[in-house]
Amino acid sequence: MAERNAEEIFKEFKEHSIAEFFKKNRQMLGFSGQVRSLVTVVHEYVTNSLDACEEANILPDISVKIKEIGENRYTVTVKDNGPGIPKAYVGKSLATILAGTKFHRYVQQRGQQGIGAAGCTMFSQMTTGKPVIIKSGTGKGKAYSAKILIDTLRNKPIVNDLVDLEEAFRGTIIEGEFADVKYEMSERGVYEYLKRTALSNPHCQIMFVAPDGKENVFIRSVEKMPEKSKPTQPHPLGLSVNDLLEYAHSSQNSRKLSSFIVDTFARCTPNKIAELKEVDNAIDFDKDPKQLTWADAEQLIKAIKKIKWIAPDASSIIPIGEAQITKALKNILNPEFMSVVERKPKVFRGGVPFVVESAVAYGGSSGYISNGNEVSGSILRFANRVPLLFDAGNCAITEAVKSIEWKRYNIDLEAQPVSIFVNLSSVHVPYSGVGKEAVAKEEEIIEEIKLAVMDAARGVKDYIRGKEHVKFESGRYRTTMRYAKQLADDLHSLTGADQKRMEEKIEKLVAKHYPHLKKMAEEAEDEQNESDNAEGKTEKDEEESNQ
Ligand SMILES: Nc1ncnc2c1ncn2[C@@H]1O[C@H](COP(=O)(O)OP(=O)(O)OP(=O)(O)O)[C@@H](O)[C@H]1O
Ligand SMILES: [Mg+2]
Repeated sequence: MAERNAEEIFKEFKEHSIAEFFKKNRQMLGFSGQVRSLVTVVHEYVTNSLDACEEANILPDISVKIKEIGENRYTVTVKDNGPGIPKAYVGKSLATILAGTKFHRYVQQRGQQGIGAAGCTMFSQMTTGKPVIIKSGTGKGKAYSAKILIDTLRNKPIVNDLVDLEEAFRGTIIEGEFADVKYEMSERGVYEYLKRTALSNPHCQIMFVAPDGKENVFIRSVEKMPEKSKPTQPHPLGLSVNDLLEYAHSSQNSRKLSSFIVDTFARCTPNKIAELKEVDNAIDFDKDPKQLTWADAEQLIKAIKKIKWIAPDASSIIPIGEAQITKALKNILNPEFMSVVERKPKVFRGGVPFVVESAVAYGGSSGYISNGNEVSGSILRFANRVPLLFDAGNCAITEAVKSIEWKRYNIDLEAQPVSIFVNLSSVHVPYSGVGKEAVAKEEEIIEEIKLAVMDAARGVKDYIRGKEHVKFESGRYRTTMRYAKQLADDLHSLTGADQKRMEEKIEKLVAKHYPHLKKMAEEAEDEQNESDNAEGKTEKDEEESNQ
């Protein structure tokens, strides 16, 4: 074959928009696998609604409706009572990748990149050719509706049929049609996602209408808004060379590297600049930060690591809180017993603060019922209150939980009704991918999660041990009593004594010597009867409601 020259080859050279890139790599946004793709759509819209409500100090009321309209084809409607999207921003909000109100802030929010909503518009368009329909109002003036598409070649919105509505309301309703998706009642499905969202957001009310028309309401457990996270400055020890360069090149007001550092990063004072100079006098602190090169940034990061820093301020991190987690777990899992732990803030990579909360719940609806009726333990993973359902194998939370010696806590994750809840809060959660489905396996994070879960497990251990003890002792009592009957029979054959009377006497004798065994056996029996009754009732209720 003839050789081709560079001119010829480079005629095909093209620039691509970020939207084109994600269109080809949709799995990076969570659009892979039919069940997962549907959860991703719900997740993107619901997290946006929650962020928007919290930003506006509104207790969130969210409704999600999924309707099956064909084979692997559904409409998804998400409605919120948030602040709404101003008409002028609707196109960019729903159909420009890397555009939003959150990207440029260093603040603890669910959304970060400005990708989610536009990703959904693109996915709808790719699989059905249809636009996403939005109705939104800010409470002032008329609400509007519009049909939104994305011009992926240019990463620009196409807004059609933008009309004012007669009604004036506050909130946002987004409806999209999606194909190549599937609704499934599984541990990774939409129902479970919303249940877990309600668990980690007890201040929010979620109504869910499933494709079978069944309405599920996850009720609000607390009437108080979570505290609002304040924007913070990044700590120098948490910076990578790339982060530092990005901050430097986008700096607006500083003309010199020294003032840029003092203005941009936490714990940086002119004294610290002097210390850095001492460590490396070759660094040019008068340089324009916009001119910083990779080598300069590398040199600066090296110097930063050599001096002592005050730990980062963790007051901007807003965990869910022990009382709130307890209320939500009671509402949703109604466990027999639970132990909730909130740990103190810790730091990873030397400069990024984070807080871990954990709970271990036993009994009630804890655990997960798999295909048959087998209940096994389930790990409920959350980052900044967002449930993580996929990519468990790549997640620091799974790794931490699996590394615990559960036998020491009398817990068998394979066979017991146990739920292990972990929420990691941070201004910068290190996700292991763009899809934000797993927490990266940073060593400090794994260690801290492990300590938190072990702490919570300790609380449950005694309860399970007590329960096992009752079971064991009452078993012993029942066995002894079985022999009592046999003994009375034998005595009757040998001596002709009255069988019934002999049995009563032996029973009294055992009860006198082991009074606690009798009591335990009775308690265990009562408990068994109660749960039998409860099961009977639900089955009967279900039968009735099916009629
Ligand atoms: N329901 C809503 N109410 C109000 N504003 C919204 C709503 N949904 C989206 N927005 C606005 O649209 C922007 C873009 O949303 P999008 O989901 O694409 O990005 P993001 O939430 O900022 O980040 P991420 O990609 O991590 O989700 C948001 O930053 C927000 O300003
Ligand atoms: Mg978002």
